[in-house]
Amino acid sequence: MKALLCKEFGMPDTLVLEDLPALKAEAGKIVISIKACSVNFPDTLIIRNLYQFKPALPFSPGGEVSGIVKEVGEGVKHLKVGDKVFAMTGWGGMAEEVLVDARRVFPMLPKMDFVTAASVMYNYGTSYHALKDRAELKAGETLLVLGAAGGVGLAAVELGKLMGATVIAAASSDEKLAICREKGADYTINYTNDDLREKIKSITEGKGVDVIYDAVGDKYTEPALRSIAWKGRYLVVGFAAGEIPKIALNLALLKGCAIVGVFWGQFAEKEPAQNFKNIQELAGYFMKGSLRPHIHKLYSLAEAAISLNDLMNRKVVGKAVVVMSDDVQMPSYEVAQTSKQEIKPVAQVSKVGEMLIFKDLVTLKNHIGKELGTSDWQTITQDKINVFAAATLDDQWIHVDEEKAKFSPFGKTIAHGFLSLSFSPKFMYEMFKVESAKMGLNYGTNKVRFISPVPVDSRVRMKATLKDVEDMQPNGAKLIIDAVFELEGSEKPACVAELLSVVYE
Ligand SMILES: NC(=O)c1ccc[n+]([C@@H]2O[C@H](COP(=O)([O-])OP(=O)(O)OC[C@H]3O[C@@H](n4cnc5c(N)ncnc54)[C@H](OP(=O)(O)O)[C@@H]3O)[C@@H](O)[C@H]2O)c1
Repeated sequence: MKALLCKEFGMPDTLVLEDLPALKAEAGKIVISIKACSVNFPDTLIIRNLYQFKPALPFSPGGEVSGIVKEVGEGVKHLKVGDKVFAMTGWGGMAEEVLVDARRVFPMLPKMDFVTAASVMYNYGTSYHALKDRAELKAGETLLVLGAAGGVGLAAVELGKLMGATVIAAASSDEKLAICREKGADYTINYTNDDLREKIKSITEGKGVDVIYDAVGDKYTEPALRSIAWKGRYLVVGFAAGEIPKIALNLALLKGCAIVGVFWGQFAEKEPAQNFKNIQELAGYFMKGSLRPHIHKLYSLAEAAISLNDLMNRKVVGKAVVVMSDDVQMPSYEVAQTSKQEIKPVAQVSKVGEMLIFKDLVTLKNHIGKELGTSDWQTITQDKINVFAAATLDDQWIHVDEEKAKFSPFGKTIAHGFLSLSFSPKFMYEMFKVESAKMGLNYGTNKVRFISPVPVDSRVRMKATLKDVEDMQPNGAKLIIDAVFELEGSEKPACVAELLSVVYE
């Protein structure tokens, strides 16, 4: 097998392409036939002996790969030969094969191509952890991303939009910023030409930004931190521009802000369950098509050193990927789109996952007449029917006597009419929230009509529309919501109702 080898520490030009014997699996490890290996910033450090991990010479750089399982070692249960996989290898990926600890190897998502699979974990894993767990970014907040056209930066732009933030992308050229706009940036700053502080001030009308994602450090950090909003969160992600800045701590005091460290690798080690949850959420976004990496260019293994040089020379936008054969091609979703920069107001209503987030009651009022959403399905089990019967003291045989109900027109027990309706608070919490709300209460129904019987083990869900919002003094509002409780597989709903909620700010 061919491998690009680092035989002595140095710049990418010192790497050599050589033929090596095929790899053999070991206990707990897997040999992957590599299809694609993405290029990450640590690859440029590890070959110069500047990275925190120091593999013995000779080794191949390349920490994130996708491919096909070629051999599994003893004790590996979750994968088999032939499976399509992606893996975080640390190094060894710029080669035709890699031997990797099975715990770092994951099955590829259905329909995902090799180039995408090799390009998502590091960038999106880091940026999602940063924005979600460390900054607790909220819909409607402003997010500034420095180095926004880089690997982690562009992922932060996309995720920031998905989380409902107004995103300001800062990068060194207009070409790079055009791609940030394609990925959803609302505003852009060319920090080669523009004064970072002045631009932030004018975009935020003097308020400053709520969250700053800094993967570049150096001379960019201080003006950015000086532009943070009161109670802002400054994310320390990396120092791609070279210098680790030394910041006077009085800035944090004056801004009432938090300077927050981000170390995704350690987070994954120390909090595996939370990291796994994040990865699952990201997988959901990829399956839905809400996230798509920007692939800068594909390089052959013989050109892998050029890809590292390009990254070091700030030529790469998004992700550079080394592919091991010609049949691995550029993913088709990477069709360039042109979009003009628009000056948009700070997002008032946004969607995170499937949930609608309203900034305040005024925003909610603007939504009158529009859909609030559709809940997840809820299965009506016999247990739920029994609990409901016990609570309401309504234990008519049609609800609880499974034997007798077999001879009824429905052939099985049916749920109490009010049972589906009783899920409305749960369903509503899944659909939307008002950020400014200090208190809310789902307290009743104006009218309800039961239409179809709900047999045991069927599934219901709620579709809701905001019919009206009435002011309530002081600082409150009554929400009138039209709800349809759909019954899976039936044209007619289980019931329709007009629901009432109150919200106080
Ligand atoms: N904390 C963590 O858990 C974590 C995880 C992943 C990555 N990181 C760190 O985040 C940083 C960015 O990683 P990445 O993979 O996104 O790298 P990347 O794709 O190379 O992006 C870095 C960006 O930094 C900007 N930059 C400014 N000055 C630069 C210089 N002198 N040399 C290179 N780039 C410069 C470039 O954009 P412009 O040309 O537009 O300025 C470039 O797009 C690295 O320091 C990396 O180690 C940290």
